[in-house]
Amino acid sequence: MDGHRWLLSTLTLVIFVSILFWIGEIDTLIKTGSKALFSAHLLSFGNSSVGNNTENVYLNASRRVAVDNLTEVGTTSDVVTSDRNGSVSSEEGNYYLTASFRGRLGNQMFQYAVLFATARANHAWIPLLKKCRRLNVLKNTFGRSLSISSANFTIVNATAVEGIVDADVMLKELRHLPKSNVLLEGYFESHKYFAHVKDDLRKEFTFPRPFRDEVSNYYKSVTPILWKDEPFVRVGIHVRRTTLITEERQKMGFIPRPPTYFTHAMEYFKQKYNRVQFIVTSDDLAWCKDNILGEHIAYSTHNYTIDLAILSLSDHIIISLGTFSWWAGWLCKGTTVYYGVMPPNDTYLGKVYNNNSCVPVPDDEYNHWVSII
Ligand SMILES: *[C@@H]1O[C@H](CO)[C@@H](O)[C@H](O)[C@H]1NC(C)=O
Ligand SMILES: *[C@@H]1O[C@H](CO)[C@@H](O)[C@H](O)[C@H]1NC(C)=O
Ligand SMILES: *[C@@H]1O[C@H](CO)[C@@H](O)[C@H](O)[C@H]1NC(C)=O
Ligand SMILES: *[C@@H]1O[C@H](CO)[C@@H](O)[C@H](O)[C@H]1NC(C)=O
Ligand SMILES: *[C@@H]1O[C@H](CO)[C@@H](O)[C@H](O)[C@H]1NC(C)=O
Ligand SMILES: *[C@@H]1O[C@H](CO)[C@@H](O)[C@H](O)[C@H]1NC(C)=O
Ligand SMILES: *[C@@H]1O[C@H](CO)[C@@H](O)[C@H](O)[C@H]1NC(C)=O
Ligand SMILES: *[C@@H]1O[C@H](CO)[C@@H](O)[C@H](O)[C@H]1NC(C)=O
Ligand SMILES: *[C@@H]1O[C@H](CO)[C@@H](O)[C@H](O)[C@H]1NC(C)=O
Ligand SMILES: *[C@@H]1O[C@H](CO)[C@@H](O)[C@H](O)[C@H]1NC(C)=O
Repeated sequence: MDGHRWLLSTLTLVIFVSILFWIGEIDTLIKTGSKALFSAHLLSFGNSSVGNNTENVYLNASRRVAVDNLTEVGTTSDVVTSDRNGSVSSEEGNYYLTASFRGRLGNQMFQYAVLFATARANHAWIPLLKKCRRLNVLKNTFGRSLSISSANFTIVNATAVEGIVDADVMLKELRHLPKSNVLLEGYFESHKYFAHVKDDLRKEFTFPRPFRDEVSNYYKSVTPILWKDEPFVRVGIHVRRTTLITEERQKMGFIPRPPTYFTHAMEYFKQKYNRVQFIVTSDDLAWCKDNILGEHIAYSTHNYTIDLAILSLSDHIIISLGTFSWWAGWLCKGTTVYYGVMPPNDTYLGKVYNNNSCVPVPDDEYNHWVSII
């Protein structure tokens, strides 16, 4: 059999096998160990800001995937779970849509969000998460709230749509996907990608009950004694430092938020509300304890999952740097205070950063963003 026919018959098997996965014939598949491939060709839109990322092994100048070199996406076969209603149509015209997951929680939330939103805008594309250990970060944070199924499949020769920071360049492409399976690739760091499905996305990013319980117990435990029976406002503060404020990062345009920013932001809330409690979360609590001072401040020592829940369930929030901070701001129902100094124009971040892409339009109870210096 020549290579082309081999490929075709493999693909036919794949499509058949994929349908089986969805209708729940998982046991059979595990026994037969059939291969599931995700096949198409590779294109790219816009400029890649990740082209030099060594993890990104399968993007190259000719925009062709090297089949043997898909180290990130693995080479395995069986779909192990299908937590979605097993109703994938076998009609022609359906394609799969997946995203590669890179970075930590904040980046992964963007990658999940754009996958979710793009699938909603393109009904013939079925979203699918590639099973990989890295995704546990997302799954351990939101558990069963995430509705997109996971599968253990191989990506071969996929059409890659590359995310860039300026969402306007990308949005048109994401509304009209090429007629093939598609891999969303990169860092889609803008609310614009999912503005049309934000209510549903908030449901996807719901913390499991045990986490919410842990947060409300924590809130109770740090409530100032004299306010036990009084109404008061709780403001989360996220202070991102360490790896995002190294000398190298600063050269790229990441600005460490100065203590005065936090003082001014706290002042903003204290002037607005009678009683305000602040809860500080950070990757550098020692710095916070030296620099974020005043009355009614609690310093959280939880892990990042619980910290994200503490922040986003607060009444209002003061954010700092990085995608984790951004998401806490997006998830929080009240006012989100952000730092009003933009990255310098002559830096990497200054060039790719677009304030309009990052600051949501104020249009509901969530999106009131206020810039403070
Ligand atoms: C990749 O896609 C191209 C263009 O559709 C096709 O010619 C080629 O055979 C595909 N290769 C594989 C390995 O699927
Ligand atoms: C893409 O990169 C090229 C070269 O760096 C630049 O001239 C062009 O303006 C960029 N296009 C977009 C849409 O950013
Ligand atoms: C990307 O890699 C090329 C080739 O190694 C190098 O010349 C270039 O400076 C790199 N660009 C950045 C932004 O690191
Ligand atoms: C990209 O892949 C093509 C085809 O496999 C190869 O000829 C080319 O050298 C690769 N380019 C880079 C920059 O790796
Ligand atoms: C995979 O990568 C290795 C090392 O970069 C290279 O030698 C090999 O030719 C690549 N395989 C394919 C199929 O592109
Ligand atoms: C699954 O199907 C049942 C019965 O049709 C329906 O009630 C339920 O809402 C569906 N669940 C999802 C997640 O689509
Ligand atoms: C995918 O399946 C292979 C064997 O079929 C297994 O070795 C691997 O651990 C699975 N990966 C995940 C993430 O489940
Ligand atoms: C964070 O702590 C909670 C329990 O307090 C735990 O369930 C969760 O797995 C932890 N998350 C991480 C990333 O360690
Ligand atoms: C950022 O963009 C938002 C929304 O477009 C705008 O209201 C705000 O003034 C901008 N902030 C800065 C610091 O330019
Ligand atoms: C940076 O670039 C933006 C957009 O091109 C421009 O509006 C702004 O004035 C520039 N800022 C500085 C300090 O040059």
